[in-house]
Amino acid sequence: MTSDKVETLSAAQWFKENSEIAGFDNPGKSTFTSVRELVENSLDACEEDIQMLQMRGEEIDYPNINIIIHPVSHERIRKKILANLDESGSGSVLEGIEDFKIEHDPSEKYYVIEVADNGPGIYHEFISLVFGTVFTGTKYGIKQGRGRFGMGAKMAMIHAQRTTGLDTEIWSATRDISEESYFRIRIDLKSNSPIYTAQQIIPDKPWHGLRMRLYFGGNLIWAKQRILEYFKQLALVTPYVDFRLVIGDDKYLFKRITDEIPPLPLETKPHPHGIDIEELKEMVKKYPKKYKIKNELKEGHPTLAEFLMIDFQGIGDGTAKKFLRYKVDIDPYMLISELNEAHIFKLSEAMSSYDDFPAPDSSCLSILPPESLEKAANVLLEPEYIKNVTGKIIAIKGHPVHITTSVAFGGNIPTGVNLYRFANRIPLLFKERSDVCYKALEEANIKRYIDINVHGVTVMVSVVSTRMPYQDAAKDFIADYDELRETIKLSMQKAFRGVKTYISRREEEKKKEQEFEKLKEHANRLAVSLAKITKGIPMSESEIQYRLMKIIMSEYSID
Ligand SMILES: Nc1ncnc2c1ncn2[C@@H]1O[C@H](COP(=O)(O)OP(=O)(O)OP(=O)(O)O)[C@@H](O)[C@H]1O
Ligand SMILES: [Mg+2]
Repeated sequence: MTSDKVETLSAAQWFKENSEIAGFDNPGKSTFTSVRELVENSLDACEEDIQMLQMRGEEIDYPNINIIIHPVSHERIRKKILANLDESGSGSVLEGIEDFKIEHDPSEKYYVIEVADNGPGIYHEFISLVFGTVFTGTKYGIKQGRGRFGMGAKMAMIHAQRTTGLDTEIWSATRDISEESYFRIRIDLKSNSPIYTAQQIIPDKPWHGLRMRLYFGGNLIWAKQRILEYFKQLALVTPYVDFRLVIGDDKYLFKRITDEIPPLPLETKPHPHGIDIEELKEMVKKYPKKYKIKNELKEGHPTLAEFLMIDFQGIGDGTAKKFLRYKVDIDPYMLISELNEAHIFKLSEAMSSYDDFPAPDSSCLSILPPESLEKAANVLLEPEYIKNVTGKIIAIKGHPVHITTSVAFGGNIPTGVNLYRFANRIPLLFKERSDVCYKALEEANIKRYIDINVHGVTVMVSVVSTRMPYQDAAKDFIADYDELRETIKLSMQKAFRGVKTYISRREEEKKKEQEFEKLKEHANRLAVSLAKITKGIPMSESEIQYRLMKIIMSEYSID
């Protein structure tokens, strides 16, 4: 090495330098990503408690999630910067978001965004930690969620800092404390730690949840249609949530379509296929000299077999002993405190390749019932017919992955094929061609089933998992795993077959109807002729017609 300049970058600095990795590629995409990161945080928070989701406009004066985006003038941003120099920060608390709004002049490129939810909020003492340090969050456990990395909100904050220099404002109120916390906060990039420039506790709060406001440079002209598309698709896949979106003077209300809330996701234990050496070491190391097994509290360290039963999902006494004896060749009664590095290596290797563990537990997942999606699709897409294929579950690196494919056909759907991709109930709008769903759609060969030059089809694929296999931190698309692609392809083909059957049934019925109409016409004419023929016999024309029709209808099974 010849350089005498060795540096260490903090996580915050690294992400500032490489912000495109997190979806902040350019002003337009950064605007979109800022919106989605805050909205997805709010959705995750609201889904912590079913009661909160059930609360709606009547109880508080905004829907579950309220999003406001206004263009702001350069001059107003400058004033705000000067106001922020006032250490008390009290000026900021009083400033409503509407105070910043201007008539949108495309040459202005500054915006203020505020996302407020009626979720659980965050306790005062945790706010600076979760919003002031990149890679801090509460979603690192094994649980289905939209967030995963502990960086989304912080990336939006760093983008705001870089483009306007302004701090983020956060209001939070929890259900059990009758005060509201206000923070004006920024991230110190060098140390990846919070700096708060104002902090207040406001008594007698009338609400609970979290409200976050960012001032940033962006491009709403590029982002607006994409944001609207995002909400349209979000309403399809979270039809049990009310969203209100305000962009400048335009207001959009996405009212909930169903009150049926899917079961909330549950945190689960790791599956042995998803564990590496480092994780195994950590699990063994942090064992106290007490443990609980089958509701019995025991002193000392557990045996290896007990450790597997306690810390991993789906492992019982029999499986643990069989695996340790015959696959790892290690004594199941050995205490975990006696494990050395070589044992851990052997154990980890055997864990990843043992096929007889039960499949990863999918009961912890939160699956949107297909009827709810169908209800939402009928309102939002207005198709003629929907075919759902659900219940496909595979495992990727020890995590269950559940796939639902719904194909909406005809009605108001424009001719051709549209693909909607949902990952843990987030619509994915970018990098479609890299996504496993797109590749599966190509392989499924829709044209074999449906003539897309004549018909309109929307293919909706919802993938749900305790660890969504994203390709990158921007969460733009799902990685292309062979088994996942194959499973999606098969479920698409099954749905297409369902649509094909519907189309042929519909065509058959149409044909039958046409034939019936023709026969009806013939019958009318025949009746006239017969009436002439039966002249003198006491039978009226309508009587003859009625009798003829009865015969035809019974032949065509029409009541
Ligand atoms: N609206 C909210 N209500 C309650 N808690 C929130 C809210 N928004 C964020 N949080 C908390 O802040 C943490 C950090 O959020 P952040 O978006 O930075 O990361 P994340 O959501 O955990 O992961 P990801 O990087 O995938 O978005 C979250 O884990 C959550 O605990
Ligand atoms: Mg997040």
